[in-house]
Amino acid sequence: MVPLKRRKMVHAGSLNTETNVCGGTEPTKFPQLVLFLLERKMGASRRAFLSQLGRRKGFQVDDLFSENVTHVICENNSGEEVRMWLEAQQRRQGELHLLDVSWYTESMRHGFPVEIHHRHKIQDVAVNAADVAPFSVPSYACQRRTTLGNHNPVLTDALSLLAEKAELSGEDGRGVAFRRAAAVLKALPSAVSNMSQLTGLPCLGDHSLKVIKDILKTGASSEVESTKASERFKELKVLTGIFGVGTKTADRWIREGITNLQQLRDSGQTLNRSQQAGLQHYDDINQPVSKAEADAIREIVERAVASVLPGAQTVLTGGFRRGKLTGHDVDFLITHPEEGCVVGLMPKLVCWLESRGLLLYQKTTRNSYLESEDGPGRPASNIDRFERCLSIFKLPTGGNADLQEAGEDSGPSEKDGAPGRRWRAVRVDLVVSPISQFAFALLGWTGSKLFERELRRWAGHERGMSLSSHALYDNKQGKYLRASSEEEIFAHLGLEYVPPSERNA
Ligand code: UTP
Ligand code: MN
Repeated sequence: MVPLKRRKMVHAGSLNTETNVCGGTEPTKFPQLVLFLLERKMGASRRAFLSQLGRRKGFQVDDLFSENVTHVICENNSGEEVRMWLEAQQRRQGELHLLDVSWYTESMRHGFPVEIHHRHKIQDVAVNAADVAPFSVPSYACQRRTTLGNHNPVLTDALSLLAEKAELSGEDGRGVAFRRAAAVLKALPSAVSNMSQLTGLPCLGDHSLKVIKDILKTGASSEVESTKASERFKELKVLTGIFGVGTKTADRWIREGITNLQQLRDSGQTLNRSQQAGLQHYDDINQPVSKAEADAIREIVERAVASVLPGAQTVLTGGFRRGKLTGHDVDFLITHPEEGCVVGLMPKLVCWLESRGLLLYQKTTRNSYLESEDGPGRPASNIDRFERCLSIFKLPTGGNADLQEAGEDSGPSEKDGAPGRRWRAVRVDLVVSPISQFAFALLGWTGSKLFERELRRWAGHERGMSLSSHALYDNKQGKYLRASSEEEIFAHLGLEYVPPSERNA
C-alpha cells in the first residue's frame, strides 16, 4: 500500500477544490458542507467518479483533506480503520462527520444533503470543547448591535425563507417567530458550529432549533429545500412580486388558476393602477436597487425639494441608511426646520417630478395624523399617517444621463426591457414629516422592520410606553415625551443608543 503521506502528495495541486475535472465550476449550493471522499478501499477511479458527481450536484468535494472538511465519506472501512487514518491526519478541531458512502449516494439522489441517520454513521468524533462556548445575547433586538457582518448567513437565510413562507400563508405570528430567531443568529459574534452553543439563547423555538440542527448536521434543512421546490411557494413569490399585489390577492388568483405573469396578463383580470404599473415594470422592480442608483435618485429628490421648498431637508432612510449596498426600494424622509412649512409640499414635489417625466406611477396619501384626537397611545397597527407618496421612478441610466433624458426619451426604447432603453424603473417612497415629529419618523423609517417591531415591543412591555413613527407616549405619566433626535428617543426608552448601521436585525 502506498503510504498516506505520499498518496496525499499525488493529489496535491491536481484539482482546485471548486473546479471539476472538466474545468467547469459549479457554484456550491451547500456552503456549510465540505466533503472529502476517502480513497482507501473505495479506489481512485470510483472516488474520482463520485467526487465529480457530487460537484455537479452543487456539493463542495475537496480532493485534499484539510481543516475545512466537515464530512468524510468512506466505503467498506471499519470504524477503527477510519479512526487510525484520521489520527494520522492530525486533525483535532471542530466537528467532523464520518459517514458511510450510502449517505453520499442518497444525498446525490435527492440533490441535497439528506439527514444523517444512525445507519450512515461510521463514528462520531468528539468536538473540541473550546470550539463550543455558548453564546449570549439580550432578548430584544433593540438591545443588540446587529451589523451587516452576519456570521451565520446559511442559517439566517433558511430561517428567513421559512418566515417568508409563513407570511405568504398569512401566518404572521409564525413569521415573526422565525424573523426573531434569524435576528438572534445575525447578532452572534461568530459562526455556530454546535447546537450546545445555542443553549439559553432567546427567541429560538423548537421549530427554529430543528432547522438549525438539520443544517449543522447535513448542511441543509429538508423543510427549507422542499419549500424552495414547492410550486405554491414559487407561485406566491412571483405574484406578490408584483407591486400592489398582497398575499390575499395572490392566493385568490392561484385558486382561480392564475399562477404566473403570462396567465395573469391573459386572464383579463381587472388590475388596479398600482398593479398595472407593477406588472408592466415587473423585471425592473424585482431587480435590487444599488447604492449608486439610490444616490442618483437622492440627487434628483434633493434638487426637486430644494426647488419647491427652499430650506427643506431630505434624508435617505430605510436599508440604505443602515449601510446596505442594495435594497428593494429607496426611502426618503423630508422635513423643514420651521414647523408648519411642509404643508402642501408633497403635491408640489410630485408635480415637479411628473413634469420632468421622472415618475412612472405615484399615489399620494395625505397626512391624517392628529395628535390630539388620535394619539400614539392607541394605534393598534404600525401603519403611520404621514403624507406619503408611493412611487415608481423612471431613473435615467447610462453615462451622460440627465434629468431631461428620461422624460424626452420616447419611441421604441420606451418599453421595459427594450434594447437601448436608457432608464430603469425603481420603487421610491417619499415621506413628509413636520419637524416636531422628525426624530420619530427617522427612527421609524430607518428599520430594519424587526428592529422597529422590537423597539415598540420593548416600549410597551418594558416601559409602559407607546412608540410610533409620530411620537412616544408614556402611559403611566399620561403624556407625550418630546425628542428632537434619535438619541433622545433611545434615552427616553432606557436603551443604549444603537446607530443605524447596527440596526440590521
Ligand atoms: P422597507 O420595507 O423599505 O425596508 O422599509 P428596508 O429596510 O429599507 O429594506 P429594503 O432594502 O428596501 O428591502 C423601511 C422602513 O420603513 C418602515 C419599515 O418599518 C422599515 O423600518 N415602514 C415601511 C413604515 O414605517 N411604514 C410603511 O408603510 C413602510
Ligand atoms: Mn427600503
